[in-house]
Amino acid sequence: EDDLMHTFNGITFTIRTSPELLKSLDTFDAREDDILLVSYPKSGTHWLAEILMHLYAPRVSLTSPIEFGDLSRLDQLDRLSGKRIIPTHLDGSMLPPAFKLKQCKAIYIIRNPKDIAVSMYHYYRDNPNLPTIDSWPVFLEMFLRGDVVCGSWFDHVLSWEKHTDDKNTLFLFYEDMKQDLPKVVKKVSAFLALNTSESRIHEICKKSSFSEMKTNTEKENDPNHTVCALTSNRKLVFRKGAVGDWKNHFTPKQNRMFEETFNKKMKFSEVAKHLVYEF
Ligand code: A3P
Repeated sequence: EDDLMHTFNGITFTIRTSPELLKSLDTFDAREDDILLVSYPKSGTHWLAEILMHLYAPRVSLTSPIEFGDLSRLDQLDRLSGKRIIPTHLDGSMLPPAFKLKQCKAIYIIRNPKDIAVSMYHYYRDNPNLPTIDSWPVFLEMFLRGDVVCGSWFDHVLSWEKHTDDKNTLFLFYEDMKQDLPKVVKKVSAFLALNTSESRIHEICKKSSFSEMKTNTEKENDPNHTVCALTSNRKLVFRKGAVGDWKNHFTPKQNRMFEETFNKKMKFSEVAKHLVYEF
């Protein structure tokens, strides 16, 4: 079990991310027109990736995550010509500096961490690349301690908030996408300076609905491609796709414990303020 994971800079990674790759990330050569798709795991990364692909189609490649693989990863990315959408779960402090220097655009998708904890719990149980979890209460404590893959949700959000400059970073909320997807897609289109027609927006929203994406993945012969370094099995990604599933898992006491940690950690976070109405 222990050999599934390793720690780098105090953050837990699976062995699908090699320490050598993490050590060499600083040398990565970003390009001005790269787009970073940033998230903590289980925040809606695949959903947003689908939307971005439709918005740019066919003039773009969606790469696998920058932190996925070994040293050869950086060369692979380098060999891709044309525009790249590069997903990452990396902490803000570990991002290759070239992305900042070249002022690349980044979209950070954020989700109610209570729902993320539940989603991640199921993911740990289903995903053979992650260690076995004893029970939900045990997992929740691990999550609150940041003792899970990709580290603490709280620190992830804070690190990105700190490392970003407003002009080039767009924060999106999973819950807003569930509530009014066309509105969010329009916002993304404007941020990327694309001129997307109303009818095209409508079409994109239909194609990226949960049921559509889940069904398409199940029909695929080869669903071995993801935008998450934690698995290549796309079938593991689509579970419920709902807001508020935490209510089916949290006891009142667990909820109080969660909110205590949240309030302590996120006291000065601007981004987190937008989440409070979902609690
Ligand atoms: P649940 O486990 O709560 O169902 P990521 O892509 O970052 O790994 O996030 C996965 C989560 O996003 C899963 O949450 C998954 O069901 C949900 N998801 C994926 N596609 C979606 C879509 N089109 N609409 C809503 N939720 C989606």
